Amino acid sequence: MQKILDAIQADELDAIGSLPVPEHYRGMTVHADEVGMFEGLASRDKDPRKSLHLDEVATPELGPGEALVAVMASAINYNTVWTSIFEPVSTFKFLERYGRMSPLSKRHDLPYHVVGSDLAGVVLRTGPGVHNWKPGDEVVAHCLNVELEGPDGHNDTMLDTEQRIWGFETNFGGLAEVALVKSNQLMPKPAHLTWEEAASPGLVNSTAYRQLVSQNGAGMKQGDVVLIWGASGGLGSYATQFALNGGAIPVCIVSNQEKAEICRKMGAELIIDRSAEGYKFWKDENTQDPREWQRFGKKIRELTGGEDPDIVFEHPGRETFGASVYVTRKGGTIVTCASTSGYMHQYDNRYLWMNLKRIVGSHFANYRESWEANRLIAKGLIHPTLSKTYALEDTGQAALDVHRNAHQGKVGVLCLAPEEGLGVRDHELRAKHIDAINRFRGV
Ligand SMILES: NC(=O)c1ccc[n+]([C@@H]2O[C@H](COP(=O)([O-])OP(=O)(O)OC[C@H]3O[C@@H](n4cnc5c(N)ncnc54)[C@H](OP(=O)(O)O)[C@@H]3O)[C@@H](O)[C@H]2O)c1
Repeated sequence: MQKILDAIQADELDAIGSLPVPEHYRGMTVHADEVGMFEGLASRDKDPRKSLHLDEVATPELGPGEALVAVMASAINYNTVWTSIFEPVSTFKFLERYGRMSPLSKRHDLPYHVVGSDLAGVVLRTGPGVHNWKPGDEVVAHCLNVELEGPDGHNDTMLDTEQRIWGFETNFGGLAEVALVKSNQLMPKPAHLTWEEAASPGLVNSTAYRQLVSQNGAGMKQGDVVLIWGASGGLGSYATQFALNGGAIPVCIVSNQEKAEICRKMGAELIIDRSAEGYKFWKDENTQDPREWQRFGKKIRELTGGEDPDIVFEHPGRETFGASVYVTRKGGTIVTCASTSGYMHQYDNRYLWMNLKRIVGSHFANYRESWEANRLIAKGLIHPTLSKTYALEDTGQAALDVHRNAHQGKVGVLCLAPEEGLGVRDHELRAKHIDAINRFRGV
């Protein structure tokens, strides 16, 4: 592994293909024999530091259409929090199911799960049938894993019947020194970013792009008022940028003044601190309070000069969904990709049908959408929102930060990269955008 790292750092990328691939590598895992370790605890008290382990694992055999990548840096996504607390189900169930599909997919069904759905690194080897990528290429990977053997996914690969999220529903993820991906997950690494910056937008950037911008999601247009929950968080920090970059008007919802300040730094002007306003959309576990929806809607109108949101960018789920449906403009769209606070949503359907609103489900992104989202990063039109970077062995703490909502934007992880700040090729483009790139740093 050291020889590979030395070659990358010495910029001898042509040599990578002739260096032996190590038989083992270090990766962050959860263990199948520990899935019951948090039984009886509230979600909040389940500690990823206890369930995530840094193990030496065997390098998987390379199959057709695949690539092995030397991972320089990765990032924490909420799916790693879900895996590490074994909620809502253990991800070993996904690996077992995938393993039943074919002898190749059987490689993924192991008593350990190497997690992580983002990476920036260098291609080590490609399998048979891969022509667009070669050893030594500097890449990032999106996390859509598809088989595409059936007809369903051929208009939109997210609709493939065998669609999975790499590093969550498959093994050999990115929080490791080596990762196994399909070659159609690879995209060029943005040249003006460090390894850890380049690794951080991936999953959330692509997801927010499909959810908000793509015709498969809300199809945002200029002038749209876009209500964004968690506007400085993983998804929200990209949704806010897409809204501003696309000529829309974001209304950013955050939970404290620091986060409000970050939104202002991104260029947003309309911001609501949900903690300061003290919204209580639920009177008790089963009853919502429509007066609180109204109070929220009034506040939005105060900021927008009387307009309601054309689009609500939803992911908190149960706690906010009733309010989201209520405040959306007549004919507007609630686009949802998650249910962090609970997936059994409740809303008053009268406001939906009488006002011709639409609820659109959105999940990750297809290769084309991921490519377009990555292109915006590479051109310096959208910027990484990296706030902090941890060493690979401290991934548990990094995941705890995200679990506790104690982070800003994205939390990075150094894998093979020995320190932050490496991997930049286009210094001119970097200099042009350096303030925007560092906006979330140390907040
Ligand atoms: N389907 C997909 O493809 C996909 C992709 C990415 C993520 N997700 C899911 O989307 C969710 C968010 O991911 P993320 O990366 O953006 O996480 P994140 O970085 O933790 O950001 C989420 C933000 O939402 C806000 N929030 C959390 N709970 C809330 C609540 N009860 N009410 C109102 N706001 C709340 C918080 O912001 P404030 O405290 O500032 O309000 C938080 O920072 C997760 O459940 C994740 O699994 C799904």
